[in-house]
Amino acid sequence: MMGQAPPQAARARPLARPANAPAYPDRAPADPAVLARGKALYGVHCNFCHGSDARGGEGGPNLLRSELVLNDQHGELIAPVVQNGRPDQGMPPTNLTSSQVSDVAAFIHAFKVGGYDISRMTPPTVLVGNAQAGEAYFAATCASCHSVTGDLKGFGAKFSDPKILQNTYLMPGAGGRGGRGDQSLLHVPPTTVTISPPSGPKVSGRLLRIDDFIVTLAEADGTQRTFRREGDIPAVDIHDPMQPHKDLLPKYTDKDIHDLTAYLVTIQ
Ligand code: HEC
Ligand code: HEC
Repeated sequence: MMGQAPPQAARARPLARPANAPAYPDRAPADPAVLARGKALYGVHCNFCHGSDARGGEGGPNLLRSELVLNDQHGELIAPVVQNGRPDQGMPPTNLTSSQVSDVAAFIHAFKVGGYDISRMTPPTVLVGNAQAGEAYFAATCASCHSVTGDLKGFGAKFSDPKILQNTYLMPGAGGRGGRGDQSLLHVPPTTVTISPPSGPKVSGRLLRIDDFIVTLAEADGTQRTFRREGDIPAVDIHDPMQPHKDLLPKYTDKDIHDLTAYLVTIQ
């Protein structure tokens, strides 16, 4: 249904774009579930440097003007950059799998260089799944931590836009920083860390920063402490409450996402 070749007349119509703009490749729209996964991953791993619209600004360059991104098809050129990083240039390595990077790539490619509008690329509704199948999926995958009569009671009623509902369960908290009303429902618990120095007491707190060489945390009273790391010393034990959701992201099939969304909108 999607990705049909435009009729000849439409193809021949000259495009209004600056003469010096690079030719942006025509791409078939990605499946909305792929875009949703990519968006969630992008929100967690890329947003804070490359900006929510991929136009940069927050310490990372504009990806829509990147030659490399332009030439990328399904993440094959983006993956080495993401997986190895460019640490000396301010881009950290990220341990996303190639298939996760290809979801992120689909999300980035859905932005059009001249006339950015991701909503034009997705169908008007994400409600194409089967609610009953979604209920079964929820029982098998989510019910160990959530209940639709408990913490998620009324969840479907909170959202006028099912796409926002979908983003919220795919990666709670990831899209919420733009301050767009009903997205910021959730208080996402912070990632914490416990450090066990070879001598002296353990220290725990909110994780602020970690790389191969240092780890910085904030203790309960706000005091920041930084420890040098050499290999496994000191032992660093990270607890990310959202890890279960991050682990789920690569596992959802497109159908799972469609079904789950169709089910969750019914939760009043
Ligand atoms: C801490 C900030 C930061 C994060 C997080 C980050 N990037 Fe970057 N990224 C950068 C910087 C800075 C550069 C420029 C590096 C350089 O000058 O070579 C860059 C470069 C890139 C490039 C290469 C652009 C080009 O034309 O060479 C791509 C592609 C890219 N980032 C994608 C991503 C994706 C996808 C993510 C998330 C999975 C991500 N980045 C996360 C800071 C970041
Ligand atoms: C291992 C536990 C675990 C599993 C499994 C899990 N989640 Fe979560 N989920 C969490 C935690 C922790 C949070 C953070 C907020 C909280 O503490 O409730 C969260 C947050 C959420 C939120 C945001 C709640 C709000 O108030 O906005 C939604 C929605 C959600 N999860 C849906 C799901 C769905 C759907 C599944 C199954 C596909 C699932 N979760 C699987 C642990 C889990």
